[in-house]
Order: sequence, then structure tokens, then C-alpha cells
Amino acid sequence: MTDVYKVPKGAKKRAHIDNDTYEKWYQESIRNPDKFWKKHGKRIDWFKPYSKVRNASFDGKVSIKWFEDGQTNVAYNCIDRHLKKRGDQVAIIWEGDNPYDDRKITYNELYEHVCRLSNVMKKNGVKKGDRVTIYMPMIPEAAYAMLACARIGAIHSIVFGGFSPDALAGRIVDCESTFVITADEGLRGGRKIPLKDNTDKAVDIAKRDGVIVSNVLVVRRTAGKVAWYDERDIWYHEAMAEAKPDCPPAKMKAEDPLFLLYTSGSTGKPKGVLHTTGGYLVYASMTHEYVFDYHEGDIYWCTADVGWVTGHSYIVYGPLANGATTLMFEGVPNYPTPGRFWEVVDKHQVNIFYTAPTAIRALMGAGNDHVTKSSRKSLRTLGSVGEPINPEAWEWYYKVVGDKRCPIVDTWWQTETGGIMITPLPGATDLKPGSATRPFFGIEPQLVDAEGAVLEGATEGNLCISQSWPGQMRTVYGDHERFVQTYFSAYKGKYFTGDGCRRDKDGYYWITGRVDDVINVSGHRMGTAEVESALVSHDAVSEAAVVGYPHDVKGQGIYCYVTLMEGVEGSEELKKELVKHVRGEIGPIASPDKIQFSPGLPKTRSGKIMRRILRKIAEDDFGSLGDTSTLADPAVVDDLIENRQNRK
Ligand code: WTA
Repeated sequence: MTDVYKVPKGAKKRAHIDNDTYEKWYQESIRNPDKFWKKHGKRIDWFKPYSKVRNASFDGKVSIKWFEDGQTNVAYNCIDRHLKKRGDQVAIIWEGDNPYDDRKITYNELYEHVCRLSNVMKKNGVKKGDRVTIYMPMIPEAAYAMLACARIGAIHSIVFGGFSPDALAGRIVDCESTFVITADEGLRGGRKIPLKDNTDKAVDIAKRDGVIVSNVLVVRRTAGKVAWYDERDIWYHEAMAEAKPDCPPAKMKAEDPLFLLYTSGSTGKPKGVLHTTGGYLVYASMTHEYVFDYHEGDIYWCTADVGWVTGHSYIVYGPLANGATTLMFEGVPNYPTPGRFWEVVDKHQVNIFYTAPTAIRALMGAGNDHVTKSSRKSLRTLGSVGEPINPEAWEWYYKVVGDKRCPIVDTWWQTETGGIMITPLPGATDLKPGSATRPFFGIEPQLVDAEGAVLEGATEGNLCISQSWPGQMRTVYGDHERFVQTYFSAYKGKYFTGDGCRRDKDGYYWITGRVDDVINVSGHRMGTAEVESALVSHDAVSEAAVVGYPHDVKGQGIYCYVTLMEGVEGSEELKKELVKHVRGEIGPIASPDKIQFSPGLPKTRSGKIMRRILRKIAEDDFGSLGDTSTLADPAVVDDLIENRQNRK
């Protein structure tokens, strides 16, 4: 498809940034980044202004600092500075899982909740620099918890509510977090999630691994029955009622940590991506304003979960720093019906809507009626994030959801980048379905070949970024060497994203997907190594290799090749058990879609599994297996293919 969709006239007129401004600012941002960011760093309030802007090197030990001598506070910027002008404006619209459940929280109310919670944490010994784990459903208290940490200088680590006790424990242990905030139960699509119960289990596991959680603060969400440990557990509502409603924001240096967020890579355990204070907030708020063309008074809705980076930057920090009204949704796209998103859009008159391709594809499959019976007149900008959006889904989103009125911003970025990196701007960029289009201000993408040579013009290669930007992660928590190795060793002096990418003759970028062993399942990032290690921890399994394969709704599905222990027979029952086992080890989001028992795996003579071949077989693409001459035992491949074909 080569269609180009021109910027609608209305969008151009209203927009902060038209095409000429984009070109001009972009050139400035690349030619003179210090000058550019010196100016734009002022979009947030500083207690002490910065004199240094940028101090970053991608070589050697790698060191990244922005606005380093400035002092500020993220919660102050997201709340306090708005109070004079918009204290009574709604900051958060909460839409519950149940369509009759909603709440509105003004900036004044947000201030009070966050201050009280800050005091609760302080009273229980949480100090600047301490790590606080947040394991919460999508309720406003999750945002209060983030902002309260930011207010007192504690570092939050949010663990998505869909992760298992084991996964939660691993993250608690890695950052030695001794304070956990959770809820009795979560509620999604009418189903309850035992968050407190999972936390209890995780705390036990963490204790075994040497980290003692001293307090668990529990929000009452469903009033379901939970176990209670008096010496450790605290009811949120009780503690909040007693706490003082004011708490001064801590003076934070620009490079003090704000949060860490665990994310999957191609090897080993998930790593704690560390983001800091000043640069992160400048970048999150600036991208929020320009990418969504946010204007005062707009109702903005990002459907992500705060457990992922999108929820951090574009439900909480970016929008609130801009004084926006941000909608937080507890539920799922198809509950009670596949019309839910559009009902919520009409109910709250949402102007800007930001979701993931997997949701779009699922809703597309449910039929247009669910969409067309809603008005959606309030919508102005649509967004997509998390994985490549296929042109069919893009067209449907544009035509059926947006009635051909609303520009779609297909935003490419990563947990590591802190904010959106390659994206259209609604009033500036002509759109091509499936392309994330052009780089944001200050972002210099480079496509390189396997040897690291920079490729020019229309081409395809590995996507690197050549210069630092303010929202960039600063390190892997507790393991700077891993940070350097993972992102800066493949191509010297450049940040390597792990994505493949094509650039067309108009300079538009098309992300082609991960080139490493990370897969993207329903927009959730998963390391194949993690799933493999979960599989081999089962007694019946001797070896496992996991790859992604194309999946109509999820984007990619999880395909597992499993070699069983001597004497163990493969059966449908065992497959079910293995699926259950992986869910227990990681969480439901890692559920294998397909398991193939395979007596052998294709390995090189040095014992390396040839995943390229496994990927092809999982895709049913047997014709182009490529060079198999380096295999130790080529017959293995024939067995695998035969097995795969017999499964149908
Ligand atoms: C993929 C999510 C194509 C990509 C914000 C990246 C995308 C990974 C897009 C990061 C997009 C994200 N088009 N691919 N618009 N957005 N990706 O860390 O492979 O959960 O490297 O951050 O998602 O996933 P993460």
C-alpha cells in the first residue's frame, strides 16, 4: 500500500507544530542540541535553574547527564504548579472495569492524596533513594503512589499486575525493595486478580532470597478476603485518614533517579531500566504536548497499564506535567462488549485516544457495528504504540474509528527511550499506513549494516540513535556494565535499539520488528530466554527453544520447542501442564501459544541453537531455511518439519 494521507486542514490550523515549524525545529535540534534543549528544558519548573544542558558520551563507560546542576521535583511539576490556575480542573478521570463505576479527581484533590500518601510512606521509614515496589490495578491510587514516591524522592518500581509472585519477587529482590504498595484484588473484565495474595507469596520468596519487605500497604479495591499480617501490612485507607494533607516536595537533582522499570532483553533476567528526574520529565511532557497536539482543556486517554512504560510517560507524567485531564481505565477493550472503548470516548468526550495495535486488531475482528453505533465526534487525534501496526489495522482505525478525520500518530519508542522517538505530528506529517514516519526533535536515527557501517538514503538496517536525548535511560539498575554491553557495544558510539528498520525515499521510517531474541506479544515485550528458562525449570523438560511467530491478533505468538527428559512421553496433558507452569513462573502474559515436542533441536557444531531455522519452521516457511550446512545433525530439521506438518 503506498497511499499517503495528507494532513487534514483543520489539524494543520490548530496544531502547535506545522510542517515548516517541524523542519525548522528539527534542524535546530540536531545542529545545536545544547541551544535547543536549553530553551525547551524550561518547560518544567526548576527550584534551581540549570546552567549545564547536556553532558553525554556513548563511548567507553557511557555517561548520560542532562540539566545536571538543576534541581526540581516531578510531583511538584505534575501537581503543585498547576494549583493556582487549575486546582478545580479534573486531573484524572477514572473509568472502572464496571461501566457504572467512575470517579473524577481534581488537581486540588490529587495534591491532597499525594501529600497524605507521601506522609504515610515517610512515617513508615521510606526515605529518598529507597526503592518502592508498586503492584497495583489501574486505579487512581496507582498514580498517587507514583507521584508520592516522586514527591519524597523514593524510586518506584512498578510491576505489572499480570506478573506472577515469582516474577514480582525477582524484581523486589533485584532492587532490594522493602516497601510494597498493592491492593486486595484487581478487577479486569469482570475477573478478580489476587494481588495481595500474590504479594504475600512474593514477599516469602524474596525473604528466602535475602530481601525482607518490612511493609505492605494495601488499597481496598474489591473488599475481597485477604490474609493479614499485622506487623507488616497496613490498610491504605486507615493510614491515609491519619496522615497530614501537606508534604513539601523534596529538592531533587536533575539526575536523581525517578523510577526503575524492569524490561525484557534478549538474554538473562529482566533488567531494571533506570530513568532520572529532569530530562525524563522534559522529554515526556514535550512529546505528550506535540505528538498528540495536546491543547488546554483536552480530554486525553491512553489505554495502557501503568505497569508498562507507556503508562508512566503517557498516562501519568507527561499529561499531568502539562496540566491535562488524563483518563485512567481499569478494564479491558472487550468488556462488557467490544464497544467499550467507544462508549467511554463518548461518555467522557475524549479528544485524544492512544492505544495498541493488538487492541485495534481484536476490535476490528469484532465487527464495525460496535464502533459505528457510537458518535466519536469528540475524537481529534488517534495514537498507536507498542508494535508495528499492519496497514489493514491502520486503515480500519483511520476510517472506521476516526471517520477519516483524525490523524493517526504511530509512535515508535521503548522502555529505554523514556518517550516517543519516531512519530508523525498531527498538524505536520503526511501519513503512510504502517510507518512511524519521522524522528522527533533531537532524535537522530541511523540505519547500520551488520558491520556497523552507516547506510544512507532509502535503505534497510539496524536502528541506532547517534546522539543522546533527555528522556534516555541512564543505566541498568545495579549493573552499569550490562547497560554498556546491551546498548552500546554492538555499534561503537551509538545506542542500538534492537529493532530493524527501513527508510524510504521520503525519509520515512518503517520499523520492521526486533532483530534480537525479544518478541512482542500483544504489545508486551518478552525475552524468549525468560520463557525458555521457565520451561526448563519443569522436571519433565530437558531443553527448550522459544521463538515468535506471526499471530493475527497478538502480533506475535509464543512458539515453544521442547525436548523432554529421557523416558518422558509427550502428551496433550503435559502441554497443558507446561503452559500452566510458565504462567506460574512469569505470568499469564507469557502463556505459550504452541508447544512442539522435539527430540532434538537444530544446533551448530559448537552447540548454539539455530533460532533462524526454528523461526522459519514456526512460520510454516519450510522453503527458505537458508544454509543448514553448519548444523551438527541436519536430520533434526527434517524431524522438526515432519512433526510440525503432522500437527495440522
Ligand atoms: C516495539 C513500548 C513498531 C519495538 C513503548 C520496540 C514498535 C519495542 C512501536 C519496545 C511502533 C514499540 N512500531 N514497533 N510504533 N512501538 N514498538 O519497551 O520493537 O515495551 O523495540 O516500549 O516495541 O517495547 P517497550
